[in-house]
Amino acid sequence: MSLTPDWQPALPASQVDDLGMHPVAIGEHKLIVLRAEGELIAYRDACPHEGFPLSVHGERQDFVIMCRKHLWEFDTATGEHISRIPRPQCNLQRYPVREVDGMIEVDVGAVSPQALPRVSSIKPL
Ligand code: FES
Repeated sequence: MSLTPDWQPALPASQVDDLGMHPVAIGEHKLIVLRAEGELIAYRDACPHEGFPLSVHGERQDFVIMCRKHLWEFDTATGEHISRIPRPQCNLQRYPVREVDGMIEVDVGAVSPQALPRVSSIKPL
């Protein structure tokens, strides 16, 4: 399936600092927008483990986003699941993001809004 770019306004860039995570809803897409070392980042607002929203159950601790439900951790800047076992299927789902005239835009066409796979269906490498 090929996905068509669909850049949508998310929120003013001035509202996004280097500390927090900002929930945004664009149609069916639930996102968190943040900055890490100045870079804009948008992730799907769903923990890859069981899909709980990181805007509610997540906690940003400097370079790590932790999901308090079962303590999975992710690299803030890359979304990679931090684990001794490499499981890229468990990384945060990242969206393309850009800033245009002070507004953060997200390409919601780059990611299918279908539900994340549950971890029980993910095979370790
Ligand atoms: S739902 Fe996030 S760690 Fe389990």
